[in-house]
Amino acid sequence: MIAPPKPDLITVNIDGREIAVPKGTNMIEAARLLGIEVPHFCYHPKLTVAGNCRMCLVEMGMPALDPATKQPLVDPTTGRPKINWIPKPTIACFTNAAPGLHIRTATPLVRDCREGVMEFLLINHPLDCPICDQAGECKLQEQATGYGRGYSRFVERKNVKPKRTVLGPRVMLDDERCILCSRCIRFCQEVAKDDVLGFVDRGSYSTLTCYPGRQLENNYSLNTVDICPVGALTSTDFRFKMRVWFLKTTPSICTESSVGANTEVWSREGVIHRITPRRNDEVNDTWMADSGRLLYKLVAAADRLTEAKVAGAAVPVDEALAKAAESLKTGGVAVVGSGRSSVEEQFLTRQLAATLKAPAWLVSRVGQGDGLLISADRNPNVRGALVTGLIQALPAAQLTDLAALIEAGKITTVLSVGEDLAAAGLTAAQLGKVAVIYLGTHADATSAAARIVIPTLTVFEKNGTFINQQFRLQKFAAAVPGPQGVADDLATLARLLRAAGGPALAGDVDGLWVTLAAEVKQFAAISYASLPATGLLLDATEFAGLPFAEREALHFKPVAANP
Ligand code: SF4
Ligand code: FES
Repeated sequence: MIAPPKPDLITVNIDGREIAVPKGTNMIEAARLLGIEVPHFCYHPKLTVAGNCRMCLVEMGMPALDPATKQPLVDPTTGRPKINWIPKPTIACFTNAAPGLHIRTATPLVRDCREGVMEFLLINHPLDCPICDQAGECKLQEQATGYGRGYSRFVERKNVKPKRTVLGPRVMLDDERCILCSRCIRFCQEVAKDDVLGFVDRGSYSTLTCYPGRQLENNYSLNTVDICPVGALTSTDFRFKMRVWFLKTTPSICTESSVGANTEVWSREGVIHRITPRRNDEVNDTWMADSGRLLYKLVAAADRLTEAKVAGAAVPVDEALAKAAESLKTGGVAVVGSGRSSVEEQFLTRQLAATLKAPAWLVSRVGQGDGLLISADRNPNVRGALVTGLIQALPAAQLTDLAALIEAGKITTVLSVGEDLAAAGLTAAQLGKVAVIYLGTHADATSAAARIVIPTLTVFEKNGTFINQQFRLQKFAAAVPGPQGVADDLATLARLLRAAGGPALAGDVDGLWVTLAAEVKQFAAISYASLPATGLLLDATEFAGLPFAEREALHFKPVAANP
């Protein structure tokens, strides 16, 4: 484990309470540390400050100095430093910590400011919260309740603006709800680097739109929906499908690449309805790619494997497991693990390969990195396979060595833990020469050719950990139960290991971490339960010389000079 460096601290005073905050912290964040909410709309911690909504107005003051000595003056009544309060309110989002800075967030002036801002924002905003898709997570609704005056003096007709405007393939705009905070515009300019949104027209007629001939279609477009504080931007996939208060959230990790973006899986009664990013300032900030949000559709895909099979006939999972154990005892076994498997599964796969004295492979998947949150390595957990010892070198995309051993008649049984062997280069003739045991989630050429198929769980249906490109160990949890008839991967591997004459290891994540902490030096003193939600950085010195495929991206710098 590696400890992060300590920042420079500055002491500020908020509502009479002092707090030391890192240099550069603005007053919204400083107040948050004291449990004080400064309401805001346009400010977002990961975007530049626009200062256009004025909801965060506070009173600000600095210690008064003696003009002659430049020393702080003391208030004789309190014995404390005298504060010069600025007569006009100031915006907290654009006020950074300075030594001795004082702010007041709960005075009559501040309350008046908030009520005034809310009144102006609601002038043209529809008051139809019950039918709005943002209901339940709308900042405008929440802050109208918390900081508004509670009634409207507006008797004129509201502006009518365009509805259901298609901004791009995944994002829809209801313009009359937009409060012109510009978060979406700044996100596209600053994070997605796709300057595509802007305001046209003036005053009450200001309208958000795409530049002429352009669409909001970059692979990060749905982040604008996440950060829109009102119901103006909605996801075409999720819009009006489910009320958010019915949904429970489960922390997860995106498996799209080795970035390991932290995510939240939203589900109800065993069905997943959406995936959104979970904030991790060391990995993905508050963002994730659109493509990763659709991965939940694999759970209920038509080609999902839900029946164990032996020689093409459906059998109970226990029977398929017994047949697989028998088959593995015949010798001539090869094991193909996966960079998509969890650390725990990879550890058991390595134990199984060692017990069977079988060579083990992994299959690499390398594509183009986008320099942001999709890395070149499209496996989420190749580093897990290195740390657990399943592999010693980086994998290749094709199983050429395994193919040669099959051709030479040295391998007669192949256990694939979630990898499509055909996609990894084994021909139909080679697959026909061996008995394939396939543990997998979806039908493919390998499941079709396999003698034994054991259906397993997707990442959304199990607990586990991955190690991302930074060598950060991160955990995910089961959001929904697996379909009936599907086996738990870890329990299956633990049973196969036991049947092969290996050690009796736990087939659950918590139990297995006792062994992992004892046997893998990078995991010493770690347990699954105590692993922080933001993950733990592991010591990767041992692997620094490997030519990993990833290039520089958000919060990531390659350690070794990649060729
Ligand atoms: S659409 Fe939403 S995020 Fe964009 S400017 Fe309007 S309120 Fe802000
Ligand atoms: S949050 Fe909008 S002006 Fe400060």
